Amino acid sequence: MVEMTGQMIRSMPPTDHVPQPYSGPSLEDVLATRKHYCHPSVFAYYKEPLMIVEGYMQYLYDESGRRYLDMLAGIVTVSCGHCHPKILERTQRQLEKLQHATTIYLHPNLPLFAKNLASKMPPGLDVTYFVSSGSEANELAINMARVFTGNTDIIAVRNSYHGMSSTSMGLTSHHTWKHVIPQGYRIHHAICPDPYRNPFDGSPQEIAHKSAEDIRELIKFSTPGQIAGYIAEPIQGVGGATHGAPNYLGEAYAIVREHGGLCIADEVQTGFGRTGNHYWGFQNFDVV
Ligand SMILES: Cc1ncc(COP(=O)(O)O)c(C=O)c1O
Repeated sequence: MVEMTGQMIRSMPPTDHVPQPYSGPSLEDVLATRKHYCHPSVFAYYKEPLMIVEGYMQYLYDESGRRYLDMLAGIVTVSCGHCHPKILERTQRQLEKLQHATTIYLHPNLPLFAKNLASKMPPGLDVTYFVSSGSEANELAINMARVFTGNTDIIAVRNSYHGMSSTSMGLTSHHTWKHVIPQGYRIHHAICPDPYRNPFDGSPQEIAHKSAEDIRELIKFSTPGQIAGYIAEPIQGVGGATHGAPNYLGEAYAIVREHGGLCIADEVQTGFGRTGNHYWGFQNFDVV
């Protein structure tokens, strides 16, 4: 906001960045080509869609050079800003040297990245398996939990989003993101601890306790009594940035472990420092 002759008007703060002149196809051409050649499920927001052709840190630019403040950070994924000069410089240097390597040969960066990630984890969580999407990560985590425990049943949480592959769609609990295809198997959804939309009465802590106890009920009535694992977003993202009271995750993890299960935190939206005080979302709830 800027004050001008006693009136408050909305304006963007100044920036030194000057967008490059845009010389690509027009918005209308891009829209027409997209409609013709891209699958209709790839939708765009707004009746008059926005075309973004450049980004710099927190700002985005359309084809006319108009600047926007990016409040979404991609889809909550651009944690360090658009085209951060430091990231750009390092990426360019690597691309000039070697653009692809397979894990069957050694390269110094793969273990170095894993080591750096381990330094951000609580002690004991030292090992990383790299994949290229959240859906894959969740699919793999469920497979690993089943193989490791020898159990099959998985508990997920209502109102969660975990991806669009077969198993991760099964973990997801939104009718808007489920389709008429087989969606994993032996996945059960426990009550979401969100105190604002919850079937239980009481304080947020009591609601969290009752919601965690719902996991015990599910295990008792829908599984053989032993489970492979439990998966939750520490703070639900697609479901509306909701979470239970601080006691929820600890109580949930204890019940899961009592029944032989592993605890999986989906950190796609909450990881890499996005919640502020902690590097990972689960650390806000004092669990490992
Ligand atoms: C919490 C969470 N898990 C998993 C996914 C799926 O990630 P991807 O789209 O990379 O498969 C998303 C995507 O938005 C997400 O928000």
